[in-house]
Amino acid sequence: MIIEWSLNGRPLKSEVSPFTRLLDYLRTDLKLLGAKEGCREGKCGACTIWINGEVANACLVLMGQMQGREVTTIEGINEKDKFTPLQESFLTCSALECGFCIPGMIMSGTRLLNEEQDPSRLEIRQALKGHLCACTGYQKILDAIEGVGLPPASEGSAKMRLRK
Ligand code: FES
Ligand code: FES
Repeated sequence: MIIEWSLNGRPLKSEVSPFTRLLDYLRTDLKLLGAKEGCREGKCGACTIWINGEVANACLVLMGQMQGREVTTIEGINEKDKFTPLQESFLTCSALECGFCIPGMIMSGTRLLNEEQDPSRLEIRQALKGHLCACTGYQKILDAIEGVGLPPASEGSAKMRLRK
């Protein structure tokens, strides 16, 4: 089956079984490894991408459903190979340990920030409710999203950058 879709802003025609999972196609055929394979059943958020601008789990959708859709992966959110402000904030806040969950967290965090530039802690928690971090680094991840766009701290921990 030929699927005509768009990936990271580029139109694409893919000859693929309609029953191939999007996550498998991205990782195996296209070698886009940013979306991670964790639980394979929609529970961990490691495979989070956007479909038509909305957060989705790539492990739960099939290529046959991608006809005419716009898919964005973490490889598609940077401008000219530069980190986004949220990615910079994750670095500033040291908001990663093994890093496995981070691409999914970034995709959901970016989606939230596109909607709401100054989200509350509760809104951030709600946006991340579909994500599991096996390293349990949740506080720094919340800090990173909350601290986007604030100037770097002059001293002390990244928490000083946070809005009250
Ligand atoms: S691998 Fe898709 S939600 Fe866990
Ligand atoms: S940083 Fe390791 S799973 Fe989240």
